Amino acid sequence: MEKLIREMPKAELHMHIEGSLEPELMFKLAPRNGIALPFNSVEEVRKSYEFTDLQSFLDIYYQGVRVLLKEQDFYDLTRAYLEKAHSQNVRHTEMFFDPQAHIDRGLAFDTVINGIHRAQVDAESQLGITSKLIMCFLRDLSASAAMETLNQALPFKDWIVAVGLDSAEIGNPPEKFTAVFDKAREHGFLTVAHAGEEGPPEYIWQALDQLKVSRIDHGVRCVEDKKLVERLAKEQIPLTVCPLSNVKLHVFDSMEHHPLKRMLDLGLCATVNSDDPAYFEGYITENFLAVQKALNLDHNDIVSLVRNSFQASFLSHQEVQKLLDELDDYLERRELQH
Ligand code: ADE
Ligand code: ZN
Repeated sequence: MEKLIREMPKAELHMHIEGSLEPELMFKLAPRNGIALPFNSVEEVRKSYEFTDLQSFLDIYYQGVRVLLKEQDFYDLTRAYLEKAHSQNVRHTEMFFDPQAHIDRGLAFDTVINGIHRAQVDAESQLGITSKLIMCFLRDLSASAAMETLNQALPFKDWIVAVGLDSAEIGNPPEKFTAVFDKAREHGFLTVAHAGEEGPPEYIWQALDQLKVSRIDHGVRCVEDKKLVERLAKEQIPLTVCPLSNVKLHVFDSMEHHPLKRMLDLGLCATVNSDDPAYFEGYITENFLAVQKALNLDHNDIVSLVRNSFQASFLSHQEVQKLLDELDDYLERRELQH
C-alpha cells in the first residue's frame, strides 16, 4: 500500500502556496529581505507550530508570509513546492494564493502573481508537472475588499482559473461574498470555497447555492447533515479533504476519528490534499499514508481518491482522460509484478 501511494500518479486540488513555506526557505528569504525573525533556528520555528484551532494557525501563517517581498521570493516558493509535488508523482496541482495577505503589506498584485506564474511555466516545461492558480479572498476581511482584489486580478484573468474563499471561517459565511462571486463568474472564473472545515454544514449549503461553487474545500462537517450528504453525493460535488490539517487544527481529535472512510462509503467524491504542507508535517503522500493507516483504507479506496482528484480537477476532459489512462497503465503494470 505504501508503494502504491508513493508511486501512483496523482493530482492535488487544495494547497495554499503560502502554506508551503518551509522554515528553511523562511531563513533564506528573511536575511535576503532584511527581515528579523523571532526565531534562532529552523528547529525553533518547527517547535512553534502547535495549533489549537484554525485561528491559532492563521496567526502564525500570516507571520510567515512577511518574508515574501520580491517577485523572486514568490518564484522560489512556488518552484520549491512544484519540485516537491513532482517528486511525489503529482502530475497536476491547483494551488491557492492569498493576494490580500501581500497587498495589505504594500506589495503590488503583479509582484505576487508574476513570480508564481513564472515558476508554473518553468516547472511545466522542465518537470512536466501542470498547475493552475486559484485566487482566494480572505473572508475575515470585508466583501468590498474582496471586490477590490477581484478588480486587481482582472488583467491577469488568463492566469487564474477560479476564485475561492479562505481564512477564518466561523462568523464569515459564504453569503457575505455573493456579489463578489457573481461578478467573478461573469468574468469567467470558476468558483470554490472553504466551507465546513470549522464552520457548520449551513455554510456548505450557502457555498453551493449562493456562490455556485464547483468544489467544496474541506467540507468534512457535511457528515453532520444527512440531506446535505445526499445532495453532495447525488451531484458528485468534489470535496477537497485535508486529513493532516484537520487533525493538527483539532477539527477531529485524532486521525482514527477522521470521517474520510465514512465519506467514501457514503458515495461522496472526496480527494486527499495537503492544505498547508510546511505547517502540518506533510505533503500529499504523507497525507495519504497517515489516513490510509489510521482508517485502514483499502486499495479501492486509495484508487477512488486518486480518480476523484483527476475528475474533480479543472483540466479538460481530454487531459483528465490522459491522467486516468496513465493511472490505469500504472495499476496494470503493478498487477503484473504481483
Ligand atoms: N488558509 C490557509 N490554510 C487555510 C485553511 N485550512 N483554512 C482556511 N484558511 C486557510
Ligand atoms: Zn485550505
